Amino acid sequence: MKDKKLNFKNKKIALCVTGSISAYKSASLASEWTQKGASVHVLLTESAKKFIGKSTFEGITHNKVLDSLWDNNSDSNIDHLDISKTADIIVIAPATANIISKIAGGICDDIISTSVIATNKPVLIAPAMDGNMYDHFAVKTNVDTLKKNGVIVMEPEEGYLASGAFGKGRLHDLDSISNEINRILGIENKLKNIKILVSAGGTKEPIDSVRYIGNRSSGKMGHLIAEEGLMRGADVTLVSSSSLITPSKINKISVQTADEMANEIKTRIKDADCIIMAAAVSDFTPEIKIKNKIKKQSRKNLELSLKQTPDILKSIEKNKCIKIGFAAETENHLDNGINKLKAKNLDMVVINDVSNSQIGFESDYNQVKMITKNGNISSTEIEPKRVIAGKILDELSKIIK
Ligand SMILES: Cc1cc2nc3c(=O)[nH]c(=O)nc-3n(C[C@H](O)[C@H](O)[C@H](O)COP(=O)(O)O)c2cc1C
Repeated sequence: MKDKKLNFKNKKIALCVTGSISAYKSASLASEWTQKGASVHVLLTESAKKFIGKSTFEGITHNKVLDSLWDNNSDSNIDHLDISKTADIIVIAPATANIISKIAGGICDDIISTSVIATNKPVLIAPAMDGNMYDHFAVKTNVDTLKKNGVIVMEPEEGYLASGAFGKGRLHDLDSISNEINRILGIENKLKNIKILVSAGGTKEPIDSVRYIGNRSSGKMGHLIAEEGLMRGADVTLVSSSSLITPSKINKISVQTADEMANEIKTRIKDADCIIMAAAVSDFTPEIKIKNKIKKQSRKNLELSLKQTPDILKSIEKNKCIKIGFAAETENHLDNGINKLKAKNLDMVVINDVSNSQIGFESDYNQVKMITKNGNISSTEIEPKRVIAGKILDELSKIIK
């Protein structure tokens, strides 16, 4: 999806290129960002130079390429510290398994790993490698380590790989990388010192010692709201049933059942300025939880008696904090959403259509309508969940103002 509205004027972007077969694509990134007004500073590893030359980038960006820790260009004569302090964002595209592992392990033996480890600016990486490499336990662990520490990872795409195989390893689509950088550069600290409580994931209601009633919520939407809140300066607590990797600056509380979620939220709501309930909390739970595994042989049919779970959002007193709820609907979306807004006394409801398999549950994409209690309605396109999360928090900033 091409976004013509890239606003890179007066922005300094460090583009780090590593030794992947897709390194040639980074020349297009450097060219587009330069054309959109950015000052692009390219850093190359020794392996990257086997795939693409310094002159290409120097010709495109009109800036000297940094390819060594030792041949310094900057006034300070310490190039890695200069770039780590003065860039608005550091982007590694493509990122090899090698550079990911070095950064995760704190190894600083080239200009890119050293600059990234020296920075406190946003870091975005777009890994690209063979599918088996991306699946390797060491690479997976290292990618998770980066995510836990706030690095934004634009996951590789599935498709044709240089080896001739199909798999997950292709560099993320270039327009999406540019759009994401544009979005990150536009984020302001509008939620500084605001305490946000977010719930995420689908709850699991035990039937017996091995079975449960659950739902298809992956927790991605809630987790991304928490991450985007952090990027806007908020103090975030996340009550989640999902095992998704969470940046360590988010206070994550793990829960399984609706009861556990209700209890954790009840304890924490006192300190919150805002609650965003993105979790898919089960409406019903078995009345009796059977201690052992129910044996198939012992019965022909199994009848379960279910009771309602606590309505967490409704139970929170209105004056306590700003309340934002989600309505996952399959029909009459707008009416059902507005009814929920009123019934639960919300400040805003976020309606998503879970009947569309392209978006919603499990997908990385979503499309929502946001309705505030004042009747303002805003709609999004089908967009990455991280972008939607940002838009929800932008609405929150307006409510807080
Ligand atoms: C033809 C060729 C293609 C390669 N493509 C990739 C790739 O797409 N991703 C990757 O992680 N490594 C790839 N490698 C291996 C890396 O170049 C190698 O691990 C190197 O040490 C990476 O160094 P760097 O991270 O310092 O750039 C490739 C190697 C060759 C010879």
